[in-house]
Amino acid sequence: MTTSSTYPDLAEPSTFVTEDLPALWRRLREHDPVHWSAPTGTRPGFWSLTRHADVVAVYRDAERFTSEGGNVAATLLAGGDSAAGRMLAVTDGPRHRAIRALLLRSFSPRLLSAVVDRVRARTRALVEATLDRDTDLAADLADHLPINTVGDLMDIPAADRPMLVDWNNRTLSRYGAWDTDLDEVLARNEILLYFGELAERRRSNPGDDVLSALTTGLVDGAPLSAEEVVFNCYSLILGADESSRMSAIGAGLALAAHPDQWAALRAGEVGLDTATDEVLRWVTPPMHFGRRALVDVELGGGVVRAGDAVLLWNSAANRDPAVFPDPERFDLGRAGNRHVAFGYGAHYCLGAFLGRAHVSSVLEAWREQASAIELTGEPRRLHSSFVHGWSSAPVRVSSAAAR
Ligand code: HEM
Repeated sequence: MTTSSTYPDLAEPSTFVTEDLPALWRRLREHDPVHWSAPTGTRPGFWSLTRHADVVAVYRDAERFTSEGGNVAATLLAGGDSAAGRMLAVTDGPRHRAIRALLLRSFSPRLLSAVVDRVRARTRALVEATLDRDTDLAADLADHLPINTVGDLMDIPAADRPMLVDWNNRTLSRYGAWDTDLDEVLARNEILLYFGELAERRRSNPGDDVLSALTTGLVDGAPLSAEEVVFNCYSLILGADESSRMSAIGAGLALAAHPDQWAALRAGEVGLDTATDEVLRWVTPPMHFGRRALVDVELGGGVVRAGDAVLLWNSAANRDPAVFPDPERFDLGRAGNRHVAFGYGAHYCLGAFLGRAHVSSVLEAWREQASAIELTGEPRRLHSSFVHGWSSAPVRVSSAAAR
């Protein structure tokens, strides 16, 4: 363990656009796997873990590492999350289990099978509409997929959905270097205000949707408070839309860059299940999550002090050669893929089934309808230390009939 400043700033959004990330993760994993970023004038110091074993160890150690001090750099390094103890992802212990149980009633794979059928039909139609013309994986495909799934599940008016995609792009991420911290705060507030109003209407006129389940359901014998409802809507809309959206865009970019894997997918040499998990490993849309140490903990030969923030770099763990043979190879047939794109342990992604369904439906639609996916311009990356994603990805997808 060192405290060297030879590494780029891991809390700075532009780092993730300018750096060669696989090389950076390799360097950290090999030379400084429990890396300390020293405090600056405006920000406390923090730890970064990059080895799969360390990342998993902290995810599973909810006794010594809490999510209630924030679970992403933006909140951990700002001193905490105002939703702590009220929003699922930043609540620990029995209250976490109780809110999770309420939400799981709406997100169990059994209940979602009809939803997945709709996801597949919608994806097929969207892919068909993008064939044989210049198109954008973000604007013409991904922006319409998960937002409409979660929009249907929460019964969000269709006209409001594009606005939510835009706010999601600005929360915990930015369109470019020109966006500021204030823009992020404003976008977050817009989402909270939006759901405050929608939840109010739903409370007096509930239906058969997830938002109604949140407003009318009981946790420990009592309804959730208005704030708890709004915070959990925020978590659902951001979790459900953004990560799945980035996985779909990332899938297209990866296939365009790896024609051998596209050919293997098309020929049926690799199955949709392994291909889906490899896309998730490869893209790893949330690059990190984080925790705050509750007690002093020895890690990698050093001591993480009680109160310290620790970032778990999923994107580095997912390229760790100790777990993934030939980790820089995009291999849709990869077996035993123990990626941590959905996290691990008590806070393991509530929407993993749905997230996988989106990726696999996109792969399936391309496999059935397309013969080639080619990049036609420079993809535009979102600026974020959290989201690995794009606001634009110009491509041409040729129809199977065209070749
Ligand atoms: C939690 C990733 C899709 C809702 C998480 C976590 C990760 C993650 C890494 C762990 C957070 C932590 O440990 O602090 C992803 C990826 C997705 C995806 C990569 C898509 C490819 C979804 C969807 C939903 C969703 C579709 C909505 C249904 C949530 C919620 C949590 C969560 C509510 C908090 C769970 C808890 O604290 O118990 N997600 N997610 N996610 N995700 Fe997802």
